[in-house]
Amino acid sequence: MSLSDIDAPTANPLQAFVAAPPGVSMDAYWMPFTANRQFKKQPRLFVKASGMHYWTDDGRKVLDGVAGLWCVNAGHARPKIVQAIQAQAAEMDFAPPFQMAHPKAFELADKVSKLTPAGLNRVFFTNSGSESVETALKMALAYHKVRGEGTRTRLIGRERGYHGVNFGGISVGGMVGNRKQFGTMLSGVDHLRHTHDPKRNAFSLGQPEFGAELADSLEDLVALHDASTIAAVIVEPVAGSTGVLVPPKGYLNRLREICDKHGILLIFDEVITGFGRTGQPFASQTFGVTPDMIVMAKGLSNGAVPMGAVAVKQSIHDAFMNGPEHLIEFFHGYTYSAHPLACAAALGTLATYEDEGLLTRAGDLQAYFGEAVHSLRGEPNVIDIRNIGLVGGVELSPIAGSPAKRAFDIFLDCYERGVLLRTTGDTVALSPPLIIERGQIDQLVDTLRGAIRRHA
Ligand SMILES: Cc1ncc(COP(=O)(O)O)c(C=O)c1O
Repeated sequence: MSLSDIDAPTANPLQAFVAAPPGVSMDAYWMPFTANRQFKKQPRLFVKASGMHYWTDDGRKVLDGVAGLWCVNAGHARPKIVQAIQAQAAEMDFAPPFQMAHPKAFELADKVSKLTPAGLNRVFFTNSGSESVETALKMALAYHKVRGEGTRTRLIGRERGYHGVNFGGISVGGMVGNRKQFGTMLSGVDHLRHTHDPKRNAFSLGQPEFGAELADSLEDLVALHDASTIAAVIVEPVAGSTGVLVPPKGYLNRLREICDKHGILLIFDEVITGFGRTGQPFASQTFGVTPDMIVMAKGLSNGAVPMGAVAVKQSIHDAFMNGPEHLIEFFHGYTYSAHPLACAAALGTLATYEDEGLLTRAGDLQAYFGEAVHSLRGEPNVIDIRNIGLVGGVELSPIAGSPAKRAFDIFLDCYERGVLLRTTGDTVALSPPLIIERGQIDQLVDTLRGAIRRHA
């Protein structure tokens, strides 16, 4: 049986559909990161998912080219995950995470710590990528303070970075659309230069050759602010939301060296690259660079129940473990940290990854996937193609005066033809579940090719 056979529909999947109750207004739901008015004129509703596919409310089967939202790495409705959630809901719905715990939280933290690079073996749970980012930034600040280096308060992000939507995340983030409506955000933040360099690197297969020296912009910030004021640098190893920006060869190593030289913590935001997306459990392993903290979410629980986590070096954790033993060491946490349903879902997820070798499957498919995506070179308006593991970005030239419209029209066109993609600006992003088969990669790319031609 091939991995994609798991989604062979039952005798009549339509029987299982639950349509929206007639007469329900669409007005009340203010949708996140959505063109609400356009959507409500032309709604797109999913009502069922299995394996590599969604089904729409009108019964159409749609190939999932983006793992839901970069999170359903093992494919949809996988039995071990479904059963784990069902059993946990019946056994214990909730356990308070402050001064109390439940066994699965420890089991999961232990399992996660075995997947992360050596040394990152302490795990703090959250409920999303955004919360994981805030947690990591607060940990970095508090870490320096408990060590007596409380002047290190500055946080460094990167242009074109995405670190979720909370105030810390948008402050270190570098997407203007996500920042400009929200005032001045955190003070004491600065940004590295982004690494996008189409003049030198357009159509690179895998990691681009040029741009390691862009990491030196951290030296410029150190010269400007002084290392004694800088707590941490946060970057995505591969930037996803700003259009799939793969790190130039040597760039992350250089960033690591500069952080080490100046006592600055290096945080990798692996919310999309974690859990097999680039061919190893984490991108830090793919690129051979170990940060001090890894921010994760999405693939941790296969998107089935919200969950995030931050893995940190033991030395960071241990720095907090001083003072009287009955006192709380880190004043941070969420009501739903290590929620029993999320832990159960994540344990089912990790078991599925292990059973099917999914955390390295992107490495096996990378050559085929990369070649397929790069076959779009030469199609109308395609100005760059980027890829790593099972991630692809196809950048299109914008329609004059209507940025993002060409890519959005292509997204709608593909959706009508049974393929779900995602767009950011004028880049089309592909990040399918790791169970994808070669024939489905062809379907994904050929459907996109047709849409690109139709919208030339
Ligand atoms: C790199 C990165 N960090 C953080 C986030 C935020 O995660 P969430 O939407 O779960 O808060 C995302 C979401 O796409 C992301 O791609």
